[in-house]
Amino acid sequence: NPADDEGYNEYLYKILVVGDIGTGKTSIIKRFVHNIFSMHYKSTIGVDFALKVINWDPKTEVRLQLWDIAGQERFGSMTRVYYKEAVGAMITFDVTRMSTFEAVAKWKADIDSKVTYGADEKPIPVVLLANKCDLGKDAFIKTANDMDKYCKDNGFIGWFETSAKENMNIEKAARFLVDHILKND
Ligand code: GTP
Ligand code: MG
Repeated sequence: NPADDEGYNEYLYKILVVGDIGTGKTSIIKRFVHNIFSMHYKSTIGVDFALKVINWDPKTEVRLQLWDIAGQERFGSMTRVYYKEAVGAMITFDVTRMSTFEAVAKWKADIDSKVTYGADEKPIPVVLLANKCDLGKDAFIKTANDMDKYCKDNGFIGWFETSAKENMNIEKAARFLVDHILKND
């Protein structure tokens, strides 16, 4: 049992996945955790949970408790409860619907106002996911440079073009987030 070894570390991290309705939060988590995808849309009610275990390196295991939070407005009042003790977050938008990108700032402000970490109450690391990139980005006019600047100006640690359908960049984005969290620890 590696846990008996001296110097073996296990971490449990609570990660929020938020963003507007239908942007692909549940699909991203299902792809990441179970490697499955469905075009069938079943809107999340309240919150769902999933656990992803990452063998980070031979001496480190990271357990991600993913909180799949409903995008529907009527659950918005619950977010303070859901966000409690989270150490990182992903915010999703749908590259085919500009309004979902505009809502990103609202989700970020919601997180920053309700959850912090450490004695000095720093904001938790948040990564931005431009999802459904398999559908083409004709509706989404931001360049990579624009997005870099947007992240810098709005306190995101970074952004990734993702597709739950094509399994693009989800693992990479999660590892990027975990890397930041481990460095905070
Ligand atoms: P709420 O729970 O209502 O907030 O929605 P959600 O953000 O969890 O979205 P969900 O994962 O349920 O996906 C909504 C719809 O978009 C579903 O029909 C998915 O199949 C579809 N979808 C999600 N991700 C992708 C993607 O990367 N590409 C494409 N083409 N469709 C996607
Ligand atoms: Mg959902």
